Amino acid sequence: MEPILETRGLCCVYSQGTPFQHTALDHVDFQAYPGEYVGIIGHTGSGKSTLIQHLNGLLKPTDGQVLLHGKDIWESKASVRQAKFHVGLVFQYPEYQLFEETVYQDIAFGPKNMKLSTDEIDRRVRQAAGFVGLREDQLQKSPFELSGGQKRRVAIAGVIAMEPEVLILDEPTAGLDPAARDAILANIRDYQQSNNATIILVSHSMEEVARSVDRIVVVNDAVIPFSGTPREVFSHSDELRKMGLGIPQVTQVFQRLREMGMPIEDDCVYTMEDAVKALLELRKGGRA
Ligand SMILES: Nc1ncnc2c1ncn2[C@@H]1O[C@H](COP(=O)(O)OP(=O)(O)OP(=O)(O)O)[C@@H](O)[C@H]1O
Ligand SMILES: [Mg+2]
Repeated sequence: MEPILETRGLCCVYSQGTPFQHTALDHVDFQAYPGEYVGIIGHTGSGKSTLIQHLNGLLKPTDGQVLLHGKDIWESKASVRQAKFHVGLVFQYPEYQLFEETVYQDIAFGPKNMKLSTDEIDRRVRQAAGFVGLREDQLQKSPFELSGGQKRRVAIAGVIAMEPEVLILDEPTAGLDPAARDAILANIRDYQQSNNATIILVSHSMEEVARSVDRIVVVNDAVIPFSGTPREVFSHSDELRKMGLGIPQVTQVFQRLREMGMPIEDDCVYTMEDAVKALLELRKGGRA
């Protein structure tokens, strides 16, 4: 299968030619496949936000290419514009970027830019609001009357309303409580499934990434040292620790139990729910 979105030899040098010159991406090859759920993980300052801001043409590469459906997005003005519509980007703390008078208008901002008909805009606003769990009566409120978690939903709905093929979210759950976090992760999953969309989720949390994604891409000091399924990536536990990342605690416990000879069949224990399942299996086997 061809990637839907890809970078080849992507380099980003900030403030080139000044004493503040900094290489944030160093020949990065990244791929996302149609319908895939990709998690990007890395310590602070590793280059995650820089990478994703290249994926919809917000930043222009210092060197290398960004390809959408195999075509360089920087080929023409029209192709960069198209990339912005097809690849939706939700920034970190997007609630600070709400500015319209009503929630409705805020969500409608992107679709309006796409020059869609009023009816189509209305359909998309209502559908996107539904996706993120905003009620009909909240649409006419000022975004500033909402709670932090609700504002975050409005911002996500604004990008979803553009119906992007690829939806990228930069730490969408940062600073939310566990219930709000789970709700937003479920909303993202719903969007992926109903639109057959590709999702790219940037996160600091291995637990969150492991439970959500098909594939993890690790970013460290401007490069991608490795990527793969959660199981493949967690087999690099020593390297991850050196990068300050570590694997989920519960995964570590189960890796250790297996090393001690416990007959744990499934080595994909990433969450408490997985752990409970694995322990029940053990009991069923009459061994625990
Ligand atoms: N506009 C800029 N000008 C100069 N340097 C920058 C700029 N933006 C980011 N950097 C630097 O580039 C590097 C990568 O930054 P980036 O924001 O991509 O990291 P990140 O992985 O998203 O970090 P975090 O997890 O904290 O969000 C950092 O060293 C950062 O200081
Ligand atoms: Mg960032």
